[in-house]
Amino acid sequence: MKTFQLANESSSLLSLSPKFILPEDERPQLSEVTSLDSIPIIDLSDHSYDGNNHSSSLVVQKISQACEEYGFFQIVNHGIPEQVCNKMMTAITDIFNLPPEQTGQLYTTDHTKNTKLYNYYLNVEGGEKVKMWSECFSHYWYPIEDIIHLLPQEIGTQYGEAFSEYAREIGSLVRRLLGLLSIGLGIEEDFLLKIFGDQPRLRAQANFYPPCPDPELTLGLPVHTDFNALTIVLQSQVSGLQVIKDGKWIAVPVIPNAFVINLGDQIQVLSNGRFKSVHHRAVTNKLSPRVSMAMFYGPNVDTTIGPIQDLIDEEHPPRYRNYRFSEFLEEFFKQEGTRRMVKEVFELPC
Ligand code: OGA
Ligand code: NI
Repeated sequence: MKTFQLANESSSLLSLSPKFILPEDERPQLSEVTSLDSIPIIDLSDHSYDGNNHSSSLVVQKISQACEEYGFFQIVNHGIPEQVCNKMMTAITDIFNLPPEQTGQLYTTDHTKNTKLYNYYLNVEGGEKVKMWSECFSHYWYPIEDIIHLLPQEIGTQYGEAFSEYAREIGSLVRRLLGLLSIGLGIEEDFLLKIFGDQPRLRAQANFYPPCPDPELTLGLPVHTDFNALTIVLQSQVSGLQVIKDGKWIAVPVIPNAFVINLGDQIQVLSNGRFKSVHHRAVTNKLSPRVSMAMFYGPNVDTTIGPIQDLIDEEHPPRYRNYRFSEFLEEFFKQEGTRRMVKEVFELPC
């Protein structure tokens, strides 16, 4: 029988094992996903201005609008060399192709571990956990030495080199994007960056979705919002990411040399709800394996997060209470296995 190594077990590619089958009301209903709408595509090299001042740069306007309406956008002409991204993708693919004997020790459900391989799951009422059709490899961006030595030597060295270069590039891209987001919010360009401080919480998550025998019955990643501030996703040339817009699922197309950017819960709170952290999911397909790399940028656990003072006035009363990011994380892990409602816990009554 044709099998695939998934969730540290052998899984058939011909028929879907019951442990991956979602209850009917959680299934993706792929025929209802619309291709009539898509998330905005923004050219970062577009320096045209429609006025004389910085805040009306077209790029800022487009990004702000995307953040208000979609919480998601793709960027092209971002300046990160294609070869840096390709090397990252190859290094990730090689890790997911390792035989289980070489990765088994990385499997853990302990979320406090730095480097881990795991599967997302959903708790189902009165039943067993349902596993998602994917494998995730995650770790902090730094120090990369802590990760390399857990992998077989050659693969580890290759991954370490690719990741260090990739993280450096993504780090500058994030700083640039946070600047554009700040200008869009009408605050100082370095405002958001300063809030996250010089010790931001930086995690990477590589996702692997093998071909799936029945994409209608399962998901690659459950419906979620990202709990951090900003996520930069690089996807292989296979689509799978979908985003909620006005109650409908829309597919995110694959564009060569583009990054998918999405806002996390912390930006929604800081912007007092103006910029959105939106529900998304990954679906599977029958034919091609899919790989993606999500780079998460978030506040340090000790940072106090709440709506930015300058964005609050009589017309815009604060919608969230202040909290320490560690409090938010605690609530996030408490809701493991559910369709999480984390930022809602910090909402103020209107
Ligand atoms: C994530 C995520 C999307 C993808 O890792 O949080 O949403 O396309 N990934 O794999
Ligand atoms: Ni996500």
